[in-house]
Amino acid sequence: MTETPEFDKRARARELAAEFEARGDTLGWFEALYKESGGNNELVPWADLEPNRFFKEWAERNNLKGNGRKALVVGCGLGDDAIYLDDLGFKVTAFDISPTAIEWAKRLHKDRDIQFEIADLFQPFRGWLGGFEFVLEIYTIQPLPIEMRPEVIDAVSSFVAPNAELVVVCRGRNDDDEPEQLPWPLSRKDLSRFEENGLVQTDFEEVFEDEDGEPVRRFVVAYRRP
Ligand SMILES: C[S@@+](CC[C@H](N)C(=O)[O-])C[C@H]1O[C@@H](n2cnc3c(N)ncnc32)[C@H](O)[C@@H]1O
Repeated sequence: MTETPEFDKRARARELAAEFEARGDTLGWFEALYKESGGNNELVPWADLEPNRFFKEWAERNNLKGNGRKALVVGCGLGDDAIYLDDLGFKVTAFDISPTAIEWAKRLHKDRDIQFEIADLFQPFRGWLGGFEFVLEIYTIQPLPIEMRPEVIDAVSSFVAPNAELVVVCRGRNDDDEPEQLPWPLSRKDLSRFEENGLVQTDFEEVFEDEDGEPVRRFVVAYRRP
């Protein structure tokens, strides 16, 4: 039986993640994956060169406008969501742990006034803490080991300034379901950690996306820091 290309790239991502994890390096596989793709985005499972469809729908419904506000894109990959926020009038900073992804994003979007930075969520630049009026997190929590989840959510929350907004797009699961494999979906209970970080949930949507003929459940969640 031949596997579809879509299945191949996800399987490869899992294989790389497992290889790195076995060596005690939890985060190194992202850079390895971007590197081995050799500049072909079709080999990177999440890199479709389009802004995230669910975030875009949310932004349109909520008439989101930047008006020069400072936005941060967490785990920005090739930067397509950063471009979308730039188009909406935000002053955008976007970061990723992978130097290859950031070089690639800079190359793709060199005409844009966006600050692309190589940075680790767990070791952010000083000044980023509480430094953004809009924070966007799409699919960075779910590929990180589930034991790290509270720490990851604390780190994402830490960027949100008072009166600012955070939007999270992630795979979703029921609280009682065991997450089976990478990417590990988030439950509402997982998400409640954002509230433990002082954020107030202002919107919660459940949506479905077809992936290889299967409906994949996603959550689009908005928060505000009072
Ligand atoms: C599944 S991808 C999603 C990329 C992008 N947000 C998107 O939706 O296309 C996760 C991204 O998070 C980045 N990442 C993983 N761990 C990170 C960390 N600790 N700090 C910053 N970025 C990280 C990876 O390099 C990767 O680009």
